[in-house]
Amino acid sequence: MELWKLLLAWMGLVLMLRTGEAQLNPNFYQVSCPSVESIVRQAVLKKLKQTIVTVPATLRLFFHDCFVEGCDASVIIASPRGDAEKDAPDNLSLAGDGFDTVIKAKQAVEAQCPGVVSCADILAIAARDVVVLSGGPTFAVELGRRDGVTSRADRVTGNLPGPEFSVDLLSSMFRKNNLSTRDMIALSGAHTVGFSHCSRFADRLYSFNSTSPVDPSMNPAYAKALMRVCPRNVDPTIAINMDLNTPITFDNVYYKNLLNGEGLFTSDQVLFTDQRSRPVVKEFAADQNSFFKAFASSMIRLGRLGVKTGSQGEIRRDCTAFN
Ligand code: HEM
Repeated sequence: MELWKLLLAWMGLVLMLRTGEAQLNPNFYQVSCPSVESIVRQAVLKKLKQTIVTVPATLRLFFHDCFVEGCDASVIIASPRGDAEKDAPDNLSLAGDGFDTVIKAKQAVEAQCPGVVSCADILAIAARDVVVLSGGPTFAVELGRRDGVTSRADRVTGNLPGPEFSVDLLSSMFRKNNLSTRDMIALSGAHTVGFSHCSRFADRLYSFNSTSPVDPSMNPAYAKALMRVCPRNVDPTIAINMDLNTPITFDNVYYKNLLNGEGLFTSDQVLFTDQRSRPVVKEFAADQNSFFKAFASSMIRLGRLGVKTGSQGEIRRDCTAFN
């Protein structure tokens, strides 16, 4: 073989080993734990019967896990010193029910296949399951991730998007994670379920700028309704539905809301006000199938971020602690 071909093959191998992407596979546990998906699904269903929060909490947990250190369940580690990923300010609003879903599913999996399935994979499966169970699209989850051995609060800063972000900021943060602007718009559709605390959008109601206290891109009737549920100095624990119309159904109403000026965060509404992202918002608002297809493939790409495979990382026994 010519030298340059050898070099290229070697570079490909190094790249594959570094990203680990090539090794994920939906049938990864076919021999070692063939029932893993049904065990996780049962555990998710059981948890969902206890609380609907299971859906948004698990979905958001997956996103926050993948954007910091990759999809390696580093966000689930509990630290006695309060300096793990989950203790970072951006993660304090992650609902406990998401963690609990993964912890319970892991216990059920361990009972049948001890030491085989990673917490990272269980989170990926559970995130898909909550989407399906709330009416969203199904897809095959790629598996074979291993659990990370690093979980630090100081690694979170600057790696998660904020509700005040513009399309440029959103796009560049997703691009850093190998995700396109279309992926970003599709994944934002996760805000079709779940809750937000008033503080995350209060500036849009009370202190937008010097000429207009209310964000002019917000539908005035929607702004009024939000002011009623989130008055100034509201109890900081109050959380409201993000999709005002169908808050517990995974559908494309999130995009229809944006067309009406009913996006909750700046980072939601800018997807419609910015000319560059508007056509995709319109497409998803008009065609739920198109949104579902895009969301499913973007979730698969999200699930590939920084994964550890082969001999990297570990298979945790308990999702909240390193072995
Ligand atoms: C595009 C940039 C994004 C921004 C700026 C953003 C920001 C936020 C904020 C501020 C909240 C409210 C947290 C609270 O007050 O409790 C929230 C909730 C949520 N986010 Fe995002 N998010 C983004 C993308 C995503 C993605 C990609 C997903 C999943 C694929 C996601 C899923 C969720 C879910 C399901 C909730 C509701 C959580 C619950 O009810 O417990 N978000 N997001």
